Amino acid sequence: MSSLRKNRVYAVLLLMLNAVTAQIFSWDHSLFTSSPPVYPSPATAGIGWEIAFAQADAFVANLTLAEKVTLLTGEAQGPCIGNIAPIPRVGFEGLCLQDGPLSIRQATYASVFPSGLTAAASWDKGLIYNRGLYLGAEFKAKGAHVALGPVAGPLGRSGYGGRGWEGFSPDPYLTGVAMEQTISAMQRSGVQATAKHFIGNEQETQRNPSTSQNNVTIEAVSANIDDRTMHELYLWPFANSVRAGVASFMCSYNRLNSSYSCQNSKALNGLLKEELGFQGYVMSDWGGVHAGVASAEAGLDMNMPGPIGFLVTEPSFWGSNLTMAVNNGTLSEERIDDMARRVMTPYFHLSQNNGYPPIDLESGNVNFLGVRPYLDTFKFGTANVDVRQTHAQLIRELAAAGTVLLKNVDNALPLKAPKTIGVFGNDAGDPTNGLYTLGGNSDGNYEYGTLAVGGGSGTGRLSYIVTPLDALKNRAARDGSLVQYLLNNTLVSDPSTGFQSIAPSPPEVCLVFLKTWASEGADRTTLLADWDSTAVVESVASYCNNTIVITHTGGLNIMPWANNPNVTGIVAAHFPGQESGNSLVDILYGDVNPSGKLPYTIAHEEADYAFADITNSTELQETEDPNAWQSDFKEGLLIDYRHFDYYDRSVLYEFGFGLSYTNFSMSNLSIRNVYGNNNITALPPPAAIAPGGNPTLYDVLFRVTAVITNTGSVGGAAVPQLYLSLPQIPGDTPTPIKVLRGFEKVSIQPGQSTTVSFDLMRRDISYWDTTQQEWIIASGTIGAQAGFSSRDIRLVGSFSPL
Ligand SMILES: *[C@@H]1O[C@H](CO)[C@@H](O)[C@H](O)[C@H]1NC(C)=O
Ligand SMILES: *[C@@H]1O[C@H](CO)[C@@H](O)[C@H](O)[C@H]1NC(C)=O
Ligand SMILES: *[C@@H]1O[C@H](CO)[C@@H](O)[C@H](O)[C@H]1NC(C)=O
Ligand SMILES: *[C@@H]1O[C@H](CO)[C@@H](O)[C@H](O)[C@H]1NC(C)=O
Ligand SMILES: *[C@@H]1O[C@H](CO)[C@@H](O)[C@H](O)[C@H]1NC(C)=O
Ligand SMILES: *[C@@H]1O[C@H](CO)[C@@H](O)[C@H](O)[C@H]1NC(C)=O
Ligand SMILES: *[C@@H]1O[C@H](CO)[C@@H](O)[C@H](O)[C@H]1NC(C)=O
Ligand SMILES: *[C@@H]1O[C@H](CO)[C@@H](O)[C@H](O)[C@H]1NC(C)=O
Ligand SMILES: *[C@@H]1O[C@H](CO)[C@@H](O)[C@H](O)[C@H]1NC(C)=O
Ligand SMILES: *[C@@H]1O[C@H](CO)[C@@H](O)[C@H](O)[C@H]1NC(C)=O
Ligand SMILES: *[C@@H]1O[C@H](CO)[C@@H](O)[C@H](O)[C@H]1NC(C)=O
Ligand SMILES: *[C@@H]1O[C@H](CO)[C@@H](O)[C@H](O)[C@H]1NC(C)=O
Repeated sequence: MSSLRKNRVYAVLLLMLNAVTAQIFSWDHSLFTSSPPVYPSPATAGIGWEIAFAQADAFVANLTLAEKVTLLTGEAQGPCIGNIAPIPRVGFEGLCLQDGPLSIRQATYASVFPSGLTAAASWDKGLIYNRGLYLGAEFKAKGAHVALGPVAGPLGRSGYGGRGWEGFSPDPYLTGVAMEQTISAMQRSGVQATAKHFIGNEQETQRNPSTSQNNVTIEAVSANIDDRTMHELYLWPFANSVRAGVASFMCSYNRLNSSYSCQNSKALNGLLKEELGFQGYVMSDWGGVHAGVASAEAGLDMNMPGPIGFLVTEPSFWGSNLTMAVNNGTLSEERIDDMARRVMTPYFHLSQNNGYPPIDLESGNVNFLGVRPYLDTFKFGTANVDVRQTHAQLIRELAAAGTVLLKNVDNALPLKAPKTIGVFGNDAGDPTNGLYTLGGNSDGNYEYGTLAVGGGSGTGRLSYIVTPLDALKNRAARDGSLVQYLLNNTLVSDPSTGFQSIAPSPPEVCLVFLKTWASEGADRTTLLADWDSTAVVESVASYCNNTIVITHTGGLNIMPWANNPNVTGIVAAHFPGQESGNSLVDILYGDVNPSGKLPYTIAHEEADYAFADITNSTELQETEDPNAWQSDFKEGLLIDYRHFDYYDRSVLYEFGFGLSYTNFSMSNLSIRNVYGNNNITALPPPAAIAPGGNPTLYDVLFRVTAVITNTGSVGGAAVPQLYLSLPQIPGDTPTPIKVLRGFEKVSIQPGQSTTVSFDLMRRDISYWDTTQQEWIIASGTIGAQAGFSSRDIRLVGSFSPL
């Protein structure tokens, strides 16, 4: 071996060693068996809400202790899903809290918007903002003061998570932007937004305690998260939420480092109120309180729904227990005053004391099927107010913008007046078991009917549904196309008999509709679409060489049929809301050029996601050990595309990917320091904490620009994306190969160009230093990569901030 060759071998070995060292992040479970105590609970000063704070202060000063406690403890006898009782003595009409993140969930004559996941897939800040604006308007018009959304937890650590679709994306930057847009817009409409669920609520399995066979209380799963991962991943979008001025936070069911989230002083007092400077109130998830005084001291401000369970007759950890605790000197009245001011400040800030619409009289009936009595002090308006206005237009537009075209062979799409269209699968037509999944049919995963929305508290009551089949029949009639359909998956999956009713046969194009149910309370057990989806697709594809698969899904799916040559198109439509069929047909026929991009990665097979599995097993299900449920987030920062990039794994469709009917190019990358004097320090300049944390974390330091050109023949929207490669931190959890730090959706006519710019804030180029407890800009070079997906990088550059 020549010495030159030897040296090269050594160099390669060294590189490999480095890679291996970086992959080993030692995990010491014993560090996660308790959460550091952070006391006392920081008092709000109403930063950013000064006038409202003064009003809240005066209001609270005038209340008796018992009245203050009324503001903090849910009242079981109320019409809304959460209720703070009126205090008539001082003219306070109470608070009505209603689900959820995509609709005022139980209400009649309200809109069902696209899910958070669909909104994220649009990558369109303006449309996400308008979704929030109209959602907020509907809550307000129904007399709901507080909307229980949007969702940044779960973030989406596991694709199996039952409620990933309620939130936006496993990427914290994308979710952070979506949270900020949604919260600003909802509150501009006058309703209080709630950032939930704080924090680590990454699985539904054992999210709450259970009782073992021997009657032992088995505690909820503990999400064990290291400090850097907490800051750079799970806390990140919640920081955007605080910065956007969100009124309230909802703490989650799970434990965090073995301590329940709703009484975790490190999370509530430390991270949220001290570090992020949150000025509003923290409410519990429903039934998530497991202690009285301890939860109040740990930073919880409002106990929902009040009683321990959901029943009017059940006792509460709060209520008169809090009053007693103050009277016997266990809990300071100062803390109670702070809690009450936190509850009342956003209320005054949004002028909810001033002519807020009364509660829709039908609310109690639809929430509790008429069985629950209400205090007669709640103020009701008329029943069944129609609050939908013209929101259907936005719903159709946003769902189309969030529809992701994944495969399109030989321009199978858009459809060009096909003579015959075959429609296959149980997701194409009308639901047969009702339009609302909590209305007696608690599980919406019934066989027949298109899936426009998932289940649980994040669902919505559809006032109507435009099914794909309805919309296709409607649109196809214009061309005189024959639309023939088979909605029975059992029949469709048998090619020997399934297609005998079709003539002429096969159709020119075969559209296969698949669905994947997902709901709060249960994680998914497979990443395949439901109802024998693989057999359905393979059967249709064996018969029809122009098969286009459309999925309605509450999360990612694996697609074992994706490379079947007869599958010429794949369209991921997620949960589009009430205009489902219309928004899909707009895409299929090219009335809208697809511009949705995946907000997560589709890998090849289920095993590819094993790095962040749901914690679960038969052994755990049968345990007698109260602390058995431990979910160690050992993968650290490496979830979704960060995992696949770091380990250099091939995937089917990567994060940020989605096709268009036109093509775009990108040129002229420029990176400029825009921070005035070029004098950038590694540490953020000290500054008084404001909502969002140290305000200098949001100073724009660099601006990256690029020119995007439509090189195809039709107009369309592109989503240029900026990824940064930040330095590895020796001895620390691995830094991802690249992270999203900018995106913009731009509409461009053929032959035209536009310049996009991405502003990089201090936080965007920093890492969380666990020793210094600060965001720090590491020395070294930062790589900048601009492209049209996380793996379609067109331009690269670099810069050294320090
Ligand atoms: C969880 O434990 C880790 C390791 O001890 C610690 O760094 C982190 O701050 C803890 N977080 C919470 C919320 O307790
Ligand atoms: C205190 O309550 C009384 C009614 O009992 C009301 O007249 C007065 O305006 C209130 N003061 C404040 C500061 O809210
Ligand atoms: C289970 O334990 C609870 C208290 O922890 C007790 O009230 C209940 O009676 C017990 N049930 C059985 C079946 O032992
Ligand atoms: C106080 O809390 C305890 C639970 O610790 C509960 O049993 C009791 O009923 C509560 N008291 C009231 C008045 O709600
Ligand atoms: C004070 O009241 C609280 C709430 O009822 C109770 O948990 C606590 O044990 C009491 N402490 C004393 C010293 O009486
Ligand atoms: C669906 O097709 C299968 C197979 O032909 C048949 O047994 C079943 O009855 C059909 N279901 C309905 C609801 O028609
Ligand atoms: C594709 O379709 C043709 C019919 O056009 C069929 O003969 C062939 O077997 C199909 N291929 C697959 C892989 O299903
Ligand atoms: C696809 O199927 C159609 C109808 O059966 C047939 O006319 C056409 O030749 C097939 N195309 C290919 C590429 O196999
Ligand atoms: C959890 O494990 C149990 C027992 O093995 C199993 O029945 C259940 O389906 C699992 N749940 C999930 C979401 O995987
Ligand atoms: C986009 O570019 C590719 C490769 O240059 C080409 O095959 C394709 O036809 C183009 N598509 C459109 C819609 O212009
Ligand atoms: C891109 O940069 C080149 C040279 O750097 C310049 O000539 C050209 O005008 C730029 N294009 C656009 C669209 O800004
Ligand atoms: C650079 O920043 C430091 C700390 O913020 C400040 O003290 C110093 O005056 C700055 N220098 C220039 C040249 O602006």
